[in-house]
Amino acid sequence: TNRTFTMIKPDGVENGHIGAILEKITASGFRIVALKKTQMTKADAESFYAVHNERPFFGELVEFMTRGPIVAAILEKENAVADFRTLIGATNPADAAEGTIRQLYATSMGENAVHGSDSDENAAIEGAFHFSGREMF
Ligand code: GTP
Ligand code: MG
Repeated sequence: TNRTFTMIKPDGVENGHIGAILEKITASGFRIVALKKTQMTKADAESFYAVHNERPFFGELVEFMTRGPIVAAILEKENAVADFRTLIGATNPADAAEGTIRQLYATSMGENAVHGSDSDENAAIEGAFHFSGREMF
């Protein structure tokens, strides 16, 4: 088994989808290793999304990710990173496959309900960004 990292983004929390999204995640075979509701500071979001800091939407992305609480989680499953990307669907919900989390709960490219790590390496970095060893079970 291996692990991935996810966040229910501020729009997903605001729109009342925490329970439905966690249910879909566990029903899809992911085990919750760590879980918390928290809010990212501007510095947190700038560092978390540093890879996008030259993109035209960077300011908007940081503004969005810090406007309210998120739910962060580390998830475990065989092939976790790739299977979770399949479960959430395309970045733009208009392109997301039927039944995916973004097709069901995202409203736009910017406000797309959930994050999923894009590699095992980033999953480990992102998980460690939000959780200490004592919060992982
Ligand atoms: P994450 O799981 O959040 O990393 O999304 P992703 O891997 O599907 O997409 P990517 O890493 O390329 O982009 C990170 C986030 O930036 C996306 O989830 C969007 O919220 C946001 N984003 C990407 N492209 C655009 C864009 O063209 N406009 C806006 N407003 N936001 C964008
Ligand atoms: Mg990404």
